[in-house]
Formats: sequence, C-alpha cells, structure tokens
Amino acid sequence: MARSMALVGFVQAQNCSNYAASWRHPEAAHDFLTLPYYQRIARTLEAGKFQLMFFDDRLAMPDIFEGSHAESVRNGVRVVKLDPLVVLATLAADTTRLGLGATMSTSYYPPFHVARSFATLDHLSNGRAGWNVVTSLNDSEAFNMGATGSIAHDTRYDRSDEYMEVVLGHWNAWQADALTLDRDSGEFADPAKVSRLDHVGEYFRSRGPHTVPRTPQDHPLIIQAGQSGRGREFALRWAELIFAIFPNLDFAKRVYGEIEAQALASDRDPESYRVAPLIYPIVAESQAEAEDKAALIESLAKPIDGLALLSEALNFDFGSKGLDEPFSDDELDAISGLRSIRDRVIKLSGKANPTVAEFVKFSARGTIKEAPNFIGSPTQVADGLEQWFTEKACDGFVVGASHVPGAYVDFVELVVPELQRRGLFHKDYPSSTLRGNLGFSGYRAP
Ligand SMILES: Cc1cc2nc3c(=O)[nH]c(=O)nc-3n(C[C@H](O)[C@H](O)[C@H](O)COP(=O)(O)O)c2cc1C
Repeated sequence: MARSMALVGFVQAQNCSNYAASWRHPEAAHDFLTLPYYQRIARTLEAGKFQLMFFDDRLAMPDIFEGSHAESVRNGVRVVKLDPLVVLATLAADTTRLGLGATMSTSYYPPFHVARSFATLDHLSNGRAGWNVVTSLNDSEAFNMGATGSIAHDTRYDRSDEYMEVVLGHWNAWQADALTLDRDSGEFADPAKVSRLDHVGEYFRSRGPHTVPRTPQDHPLIIQAGQSGRGREFALRWAELIFAIFPNLDFAKRVYGEIEAQALASDRDPESYRVAPLIYPIVAESQAEAEDKAALIESLAKPIDGLALLSEALNFDFGSKGLDEPFSDDELDAISGLRSIRDRVIKLSGKANPTVAEFVKFSARGTIKEAPNFIGSPTQVADGLEQWFTEKACDGFVVGASHVPGAYVDFVELVVPELQRRGLFHKDYPSSTLRGNLGFSGYRAP
C-alpha cells in the first residue's frame, strides 16, 4: 500500500478544544473533569484508525491580559488544564492501537523526570507513547514553575538541544536484552548492560542510571512544532513528527519544500519524519449543512478570546493599549512569545507597526480561522485533504476540533471512510507501535 496519511487528534485536557469558544457549542460535552470525556474521544479516534491522540499543554492559564485571570476565567478561555500525562496513562488501558502523545516542557521539568515519565507510558501502552517537546513561551508559566521569567527564545532551544541529549542518553541506558529475570541463577539483569549517563553539561547535570528498562519502541516518539528558524533547526535535528501552522496550500508547499531541502542539507532522510499542519475540518452530509454548522461554530467566538490568547502567546498585555493604537518598534522587538504570530500579522496587514485590532484580525487567534478550515461534504473535505497530501504540502494533518466530541465523530464517520476508499489512509493499524503506524521501521538515532 502507498504511504498512509498521518492523522493526529489535537486534544486538550481542558475545558475546551484548541478553539477556546468550543465549550459554548450546544453539543459540546461539559464533563471534561471526568474520565469518560477523554475515553469517548480516544475511542472515536481509535475507531477512525488515527495514528495519534495528542494532548497539548501550557503550564498556566491565560492571565496576561489586563494583568489578571478574571476575564479568562469568566469566559472559559482555556483556563482548566489537567495534567495530560495522567489522563494519557488512563487511556493506555482503554485503547490498544492509538498512539498517545503529550506535551512536556524542557524549561521546567528536569530531563530525568521527562525521560522516566514517557518511558513509563511507552511500557504501559505497549509502544504507543509520544512526547511533544516544547520550550514554553510566557512568564505566567515561569511564575507557576518557580522561575522569575521565561527564557529568551533561542536560548530555550540551545538548552533544549542539551536536554534531548540527556533524555535520549537515559532512554539508551538499558540495552534491549539487559533484563534476564533468571530465578535459577538469581540474576535479575546484567549490570554490564545498564549504563550510567554521568552528564555534566552547560545547562544540565544528570547522573543515572535511568530507572526504566528499555521501552517497546526503544524510545518514545519525538514530536516538535518549532516554526522559527531556530525552532525548525531543532525540530529537524530531533523530531519524527513535525507539527506546523500552514495558513494556505501555497505556503504549505513552499515550507514543506524548505523543510525537505534543510533535511537533505543536514543529512536527514526526509522519509524519517512526517510533517502535519493543524486544520479545522467541518463536515456534514451536504455542503449547505456544513456551511450552516461552520456559521454556528464561528459565531461562538468572543473578542475576549482573541485578546486573552494573543496576550498569552505573545507574552504581552494586549489590554495595556487601545484597540487602534499601533505597537511601537520597541514593543514589537520585546515580544518574546510566539514571534511567528507577530511576523505573520506584520506580513498580512502590510503594516510595520500593526494596531491591537490588526493583531486580532490578522492573527485570527481564538477563532477557527487561525488554521485552514476544510468545510463541506465528505467528498469535498477529502478532496481538500487529498490535494494537500498529494501535492506535497504535508504528510498528514493535526485535526483540531470545533467542539468535542462531535467534530471527531463527524470526521471519523464521514471523512475517514472516504480517505480509506481513495487509498490515502490505512484501513487498519499496520503495527502495534505508534512509530510503526506512522510508517517508520525503527528509531532514528540523531
Ligand atoms: C500543532 C501545534 C501544537 C503545539 N502545541 C504546543 C503546546 O502544547 N505547548 C506549547 O507551549 N507550545 C505548543 N506549540 C508551539 C510550538 O511548540 C512552538 O513554540 C511554536 O510553533 C513557535 O515556534 P518557535 O518556538 O520556533 O518560535 C504548538 C504548535 C503547533 C503548531
């Protein structure tokens, strides 16, 4: 069979999907503090043969707007955030083939801790664990985690390079055949096959030996979503699954080509990673019905959603300026969060110094227009996805939900069968491991 499209469910252990207004949808489930909420999503994604259910994370609620959490709490703007790894561990027991990915930050957890958590999940899920490596981006996270402020953008990635060496070092500590469990001789494991890392570097110290034996996938899958030059360099060095935001097909084709060229230039085989951009599909039996659904979904967003989420992402209080007040050069330079949003707004607005209102409009933060929408009948949505996949704009998609679980139920019932009929997406899981289901034959040592 030809290579299968990669499908990733973009799930949040919070009160809404990535679309903050989703909790206001008339069909949105509100039992997000209970296990059944997550089980329903996982079972739906597994029925649809998605390779991965992936939880994003941030270590703070959006509370930079007007220097307070009040408006975010009042409006439910991504304020509840459960611990995604705990949720995933429970889902390991409830699923058998679905990959289970979660985000953990290199800025606030020691590498030994992350190595141990994901190795544990890889064992308990029988080889289905993935780690989304993020560097964290705003001061609220720093304040929650005991730091005085977020780390400068490129330094975050410099530290993370060393962090990855430590994590991978720990994952490699136990050779595959180290465990002997020989009751007769009394030997549990061969000490010659368990090594100590003894890492002392510029940013981290970690001794070892790691306490988790080698995992079913050898190493949990590495996921990364850097969009900046430095972020992409990091992703190409370490990641197997690269998440992206591609606003349209032409942009996607260009950047996909750039990633490929960059991979080849750095001796990275383009077959050893997959690129998957975020999308919001809205599908119904007919185009008219899908458009009605989309109109309802779009009407749920409030201006506060965008302002709170822009403040969070850019680490700048958007409430400190009037709506029509332009950003100064100094303010733009000082933005330390997601600079890709700042740069996109400058480009799309054609203004070197956009106003607050222009940031809201051109970033589309807090709306489903932040990522491409595929709205229509099952055939129309499949046509769009097929075009992106076959015209080398991506290797698959991170499927965002306009509301849960409904958006995934619709996608799995209506779009997945159409993709399978066209031979674009596998009809069953070819492997028992996440890496195998993405079409990789084994772990690629960096
Ligand atoms: C699909 C997707 C999921 C992401 N998930 C998270 C997340 O869970 N937590 C987080 O702090 N950042 C997340 N990010 C942000 C990226 O890690 C990265 O910081 C961002 O894309 C900007 O790139 P840069 O760090 O190279 O500037 C995500 C990005 C994308 C495209």
